[in-house]
Amino acid sequence: MMYTTGKKVRFSLFGTSHGPYVGCVLEGIPKGMPVDETQIARDMELRRPKKGIGTPRRETDSVNIRQGVHNGRTDGMPILMIIENADTDGSKYLKFARTPRPGHADLPALARFPGYDIRGGGQFSGRLTAPIVAAGSIAKQLIGRSGMEVSAFSRAIGGVTDCENRDIADAAGSRGFATRACTGELDAAMEERIVSASSDGDSVGGVVECIATGLPIGFGGIWFEALDTEIAGAVFSIPACKGVEFGRGFGLANIRGSESNDPFFVDGGIKCGTNNMGGILGGMSDGAPMVFRAVFKPTPSIAKPQRTVDIERMENSEVSVEGRHDPCIVPRAVSVVEAVTALVLADQMVRDPERGG
Ligand SMILES: Cc1cc2nc3c(=O)[nH]c(=O)nc-3n(C[C@H](O)[C@H](O)[C@H](O)COP(=O)(O)O)c2cc1C
Repeated sequence: MMYTTGKKVRFSLFGTSHGPYVGCVLEGIPKGMPVDETQIARDMELRRPKKGIGTPRRETDSVNIRQGVHNGRTDGMPILMIIENADTDGSKYLKFARTPRPGHADLPALARFPGYDIRGGGQFSGRLTAPIVAAGSIAKQLIGRSGMEVSAFSRAIGGVTDCENRDIADAAGSRGFATRACTGELDAAMEERIVSASSDGDSVGGVVECIATGLPIGFGGIWFEALDTEIAGAVFSIPACKGVEFGRGFGLANIRGSESNDPFFVDGGIKCGTNNMGGILGGMSDGAPMVFRAVFKPTPSIAKPQRTVDIERMENSEVSVEGRHDPCIVPRAVSVVEAVTALVLADQMVRDPERGG
């Protein structure tokens, strides 16, 4: 089974947490494009769990490009990438087939898929975000050739919120911090919240903010192909994402049009004076940086006992989760948000006749 998205740059994902590997097929990247595998490895490293604040599961995450790149360039074939699952231990998961974890996909997955392999959370595992990041890295390289850039950071974790205005350079700077905060001070405060929740057998959530620059005015689509529509859909596909807002988002509910409209002015081209819309009007770029935020819930698998049901006996029960889990998904989700955003931008770019589609 493959899960596919995109129209011209098509991305198909496959694998499970505890199968032999996870992987993807990326189609539609123009032939002859240089592919920097060192950059892919750097992006993969950013997604890997960090000591103390991520799962102890240790995977090398080395990306094996089996087809589609030859002598450092795309050869026009679909790009097939495989990432081995080496550090698997399914023993701790078997009880969830009987007592499903609250907050995870166990209950609906058991109902929907006969013979569902629950180990590691099966195809619902965050492990499947590894190939997304690998493909996203290639998409970033493609859009980078047209001057587009994507960077994300942790806006909030466990109640610690970064209240400063941030630009794409700040977001890129978060790559130096384990929590993907923009400063050392915020990094320490966010880490403290993660460690404290984890030592209580609990977890925390937070907010990822993503910024994309270099989108020309008019870049995007309308209606069901609108830029915000496709970005929101892609970001919502990331496990544990429970909300997406562009620009001032839900805050727009409380202000007037005179305050929310971003005024235009001329300064060597048409510019926006503010960015309450997050850089999108009518599904297309208004030339301002595209800015959106995505909320990620606290990791469902926690050691604290929680109420559930024993589905064999059909009686109330309790479950407590052992095994290896991220006490906070946000630091790792930052890379995944960047990746899906780059994939959508690449797809929109290749679809656009003026930009090579
Ligand atoms: C990068 C990443 C890592 C994740 N790690 C874990 C984890 O260690 N334990 C866990 O229970 N859920 C983890 N999740 C979240 C689950 O995969 C997700 O909550 C579950 O599939 C249910 O989907 P939903 O939350 O979108 O409804 C992770 C998600 C991502 C994106």
